[in-house]
Amino acid sequence: MTAMTPAQLTEGVLAAYADTPEPRLRELLTALIGHLHAFTAATRLTPQEWLAAVNFLTATGQKCDSERQEFILLSDVLGLSSLVDLVNAADGATESTVLGPFYVPGAPVRAMGEQIGRRQDGSPALARGKVTDLAGGPLAGATVDVWQCASNGLYDTQDPGQPPFNLRGVFVTGPDGSYEFRTVRPVSYPIPVDGPVGDLLRGAGRHHWRAAHIHAIVSAPGHRGVTTHIFDADNSYLDSDAVFGVKDSLIKQFRPSGPGDPADVSYVVDMDFALAPAEPPTTA
Ligand code: BEZ
Ligand code: FE
Repeated sequence: MTAMTPAQLTEGVLAAYADTPEPRLRELLTALIGHLHAFTAATRLTPQEWLAAVNFLTATGQKCDSERQEFILLSDVLGLSSLVDLVNAADGATESTVLGPFYVPGAPVRAMGEQIGRRQDGSPALARGKVTDLAGGPLAGATVDVWQCASNGLYDTQDPGQPPFNLRGVFVTGPDGSYEFRTVRPVSYPIPVDGPVGDLLRGAGRHHWRAAHIHAIVSAPGHRGVTTHIFDADNSYLDSDAVFGVKDSLIKQFRPSGPGDPADVSYVVDMDFALAPAEPPTTA
């Protein structure tokens, strides 16, 4: 009797899943098994390394609770979350980037131009722009849901010193598609590294800083919403963002305010958002 080869094993495993009834599940399983087997054969993965990986994934799961999603953080630092965004991008629309773990639904709907948080939380800044369709037509009644951390690098949900919904707000665009809000200039901040993902970053010799940004989820009826950021062009982590979230089109200048700008802000950033039409519902 001759010993089984790795290729024969892979073939046998693929054959066992070949009759998966649902076509997309079959496609995903086939590709996953193929890549996992090829990785294992190419690296000659040892039993000790396999067990270390199992223990790492177990610890990742154990770190998750209703407030903390260590698996998403893992996906983020491996660039997987950004790759999912890239392969699902809509041509011509504002590029999307990671949601991150600090989004809280239900932020207050605020008046045009309103301050989203305490002025003491950083340098006062005005963010403004338009929400349009792909042809540049204004989208009235679109929502721009924004959130960011304070100058201490903490989101309200991480910092008992901040009131709930500090530096968060939902804005509804006017008839010309415009939105405008007052905030503070964002700062770089560390992603959580007190779990397995922190061990991974330390093991890889990578830093754990995010490039300074404001988060936004932009939605409009009949259009595909986008989850994205406004990155500060002067930030030093743009080239090494811990979660690979930076895209050139999302980098904007926070320019010092000048004549013609509101007197109560030190910086102004302009950011327009373009939304693709909603995809037609798929028929079963
Ligand atoms: C954030 O920007 O809030 C974030 C994104 C990914 C991982 C950690 C934080
Ligand atoms: Fe963030």
